[in-house]
Amino acid sequence: MKQRLLFLGPPGAGKGTQAQHLAESRGLLHLSTGDLLRGEVAAGTPLGQEAEAVMARGELVSDALVRAIVRSRLEQQAQAGGGGWLLDGFPRNVAQADALAALLQELGQQIELVVLMELDDAVLVQRLLARGRADDNESVIRHRLEVYRQQTEPLIAYYRERDLLAPVEAAGSVDAIAERIAAVIG
Ligand code: AP5
Repeated sequence: MKQRLLFLGPPGAGKGTQAQHLAESRGLLHLSTGDLLRGEVAAGTPLGQEAEAVMARGELVSDALVRAIVRSRLEQQAQAGGGGWLLDGFPRNVAQADALAALLQELGQQIELVVLMELDDAVLVQRLLARGRADDNESVIRHRLEVYRQQTEPLIAYYRERDLLAPVEAAGSVDAIAERIAAVIG
């Protein structure tokens, strides 16, 4: 089974839902940069204060900030003996992907598969409006989708060129999608 995984896809594709399920069932570390940033916001830390307004607008928080968060978690895990991990919401642009590659080289680790969750915009928007998180109103959702197309979508070609990309249809029930993901990660 592949156990060093990235989950890539537009907002609302179900990355967090599937990543959490998979991490629990297979004993992997689940690192969601969105969840970690929301934790910092809720705790009112300086990092959270810096990130809050940017997240509310649906833009990307600075690369340096998210890179530091991911580095500390992956280093901690490596020092504790290593293991599998699942990155959800990171990397989000080519600079973050290059930084991740450099970090993994330092740690002597490799990405084994990038799961690309694909779904129509209309369904994404419906799912997010039904959830109603602070950044789930119609205009911010549209902006998050634009940011995804401009900054994150280039990672599809980036990981395809590295022969790591596994596209998965993200429509249907949570269980049906989990089965499709299980089939590609083995
Ligand atoms: P982040 O938290 O990563 O949000 P996102 O990518 O916009 O993703 P979502 O959480 O909205 O969607 P998801 O694909 O995880 O779907 P989910 O499972 O939740 O990022 C938020 C913000 O943080 C960013 O805008 C940015 O500001 C900042 N940020 C985060 N990472 C960053 C980075 N690396 N660099 C810079 N900034 C960063 O599901 C969505 C909803 O659909 C849920 O209600 C769920 O219950 C429902 N659902 C899931 N699956 C199904 C299904 N099969 N059928 C019906 N409903 C479903």
